[in-house]
Amino acid sequence: MAEEKQTCYEGSSVQSFQFYLEHSGEHKAILQCVHNLLPGEFKRVAEGKSSLDVLGVGSGGGEVDAQMLTLLQSTVPAVPITADIVEGSSALTDNFKALVAKTTNLQKIPFAWHIMHSEDYEKHVKAKGVKKFDFIHMIQMIYYVDDLAESIKFHHSLLKKNGRLMIIIETAHGGWDTLWKTYKKDLCVHAITEYRSSAEVISCLKSQGLKYEEHVITNAFDISECFNPSSQTGQRLLNFMTAKDNFYQSFTSETRAGILDLLKNKCSTQRDGGVFFNSNLSCILVHA
Ligand SMILES: C[S@@+](CC[C@H](N)C(=O)[O-])C[C@H]1O[C@@H](n2cnc3c(N)ncnc32)[C@H](O)[C@@H]1O
Repeated sequence: MAEEKQTCYEGSSVQSFQFYLEHSGEHKAILQCVHNLLPGEFKRVAEGKSSLDVLGVGSGGGEVDAQMLTLLQSTVPAVPITADIVEGSSALTDNFKALVAKTTNLQKIPFAWHIMHSEDYEKHVKAKGVKKFDFIHMIQMIYYVDDLAESIKFHHSLLKKNGRLMIIIETAHGGWDTLWKTYKKDLCVHAITEYRSSAEVISCLKSQGLKYEEHVITNAFDISECFNPSSQTGQRLLNFMTAKDNFYQSFTSETRAGILDLLKNKCSTQRDGGVFFNSNLSCILVHA
């Protein structure tokens, strides 16, 4: 029987993702960008409106959502906000709900939880009619949608006047792009069958004639431990970076050696005695 394409994080992939977040500094880098860019964007989006509706797609445990919603509340304190969340992982949605439960300001926001794939949400919306949104975000999730062009078109169609669709994705020619495109045949086999970076998203936006701005989010993290075969940390990072449960059992020794060589020499910078993986991201703001 063909293996089912499972894009949403459940079971061991939840732990693997949490481990990655703790080691990569990714949320810190994203939040810095969010705090720099979004207050101005939120003011433009909110102008003349008496309420604001936010849609988070693939929000995971909601750590970034919580900060963005808090920022939105403080940017336009008098305006009531609603939040719809489309997330296919029930485990991560539980984490998000727990975060809301312990964050006083978020309890003022009515949340609608759609625990489903974004493709199913799309079908549901198309069948039942639409709630439109002022701010939609897809952070580090667009790798997983079945049809990139269709997903962008659909989410863009949900924007209200002056709305923004924010897509955060690994940047073109960064470490992830280099790794996943060089080892496409070995890596693009399960949840991700076609690796996407900001280049693919921007080419889609251009072909749909959509207005956007791209902002680079710089980030790098230490992968030195990946080159020590007895390091648990190294192995867990390699598992996440190659989307495998066990890096050492998943590839031939030749492929493993090739991946490690590429990681060190093409995807990273060596400095201060460490190997720092280039994990720059792009934050793309698409206009309504
Ligand atoms: C890399 S995580 C990013 C989570 C969160 N946005 C963050 O940056 O912390 C990708 C998330 O997208 C979710 N996901 C993957 N495919 C999805 C789909 N087709 N529809 C909805 N969520 C999806 C996964 O379950 C996971 O929570």
